[in-house]
Amino acid sequence: MKANKQPLGVFDSGVGGLTVFKEIRRRFPNEDIIYFGDTARVPYGPKSKNTVIEYSIQNSRFLMQQNVKLIVIACNTSSAVALNVLQDNFSVPILSVIEPGAIAASKITKNGRIGVIGTEGTIRSQAYTKAIKLIDSKLEVFSKPCPLFVSLAEEGWANHPITLKIVEEYLNGFEKEKIDTLVLGCTHYPILKEAIRQVVGDQVALVDSSIAILADMEDYLAESTETETGKDLFFVSDNEDKFKAIAEDILNITDFSLSKVKLGESWYIDHILKG
Ligand code: DGL
Repeated sequence: MKANKQPLGVFDSGVGGLTVFKEIRRRFPNEDIIYFGDTARVPYGPKSKNTVIEYSIQNSRFLMQQNVKLIVIACNTSSAVALNVLQDNFSVPILSVIEPGAIAASKITKNGRIGVIGTEGTIRSQAYTKAIKLIDSKLEVFSKPCPLFVSLAEEGWANHPITLKIVEEYLNGFEKEKIDTLVLGCTHYPILKEAIRQVVGDQVALVDSSIAILADMEDYLAESTETETGKDLFFVSDNEDKFKAIAEDILNITDFSLSKVKLGESWYIDHILKG
């Protein structure tokens, strides 16, 4: 496979996908990466399937305009409902976090009992359940939406005492299901990993799909012969300052290129604003 200097595209509903970006950057240090966070329209989790599909198409179109060679849907909610539509409509490989997470969980589980947590949209779609059952129909899947986790992560409350209480409230039911593996099926959940670990205990393996997707990407990307470090370009649809603060925290960098872009059919709003 010949190395191709076009950038990789990654999109998410907002800041959460930075957990995926971080792993991609670590694994592919020489690739240029364009990240788009749809901070104007986050959260995707409670929105309808069609709305999330529409946003995902617009996000992918934006990345294609930046000449990306591959698109990673970092957002689990988008991955759950929009993967097929995007694959049918765009000419570059489109990778989702769901299948790699399902494969990782099916390899890790010993007792065949897997828990999945995610947004309402992801859990409602049953995308993880279907993907896991496709790998092995005997595997048992127990899923639960944990909508408040997104706000806790965005608020920077990973280590706040209230977070542990909320995590307990959501996850206690898994105890009686005797799961031995839990899929963190949302970009924000790795940020709460410590609290989740504390609640489920050491005997439950946590699957982080931001790491699982790297193996999929390796199939498409040639090992780089470049010595130059890849460039990062970040785009958001709103709230650059908040994005910057969280990105600095998650990625441990202070100097990066961040621009605001407007997506979607907003000509009528422009018209009103201009009078
Ligand atoms: N990025 C979303 C996901 O992974 C979580 C945040 C949201 O609801 O938009 O599902």
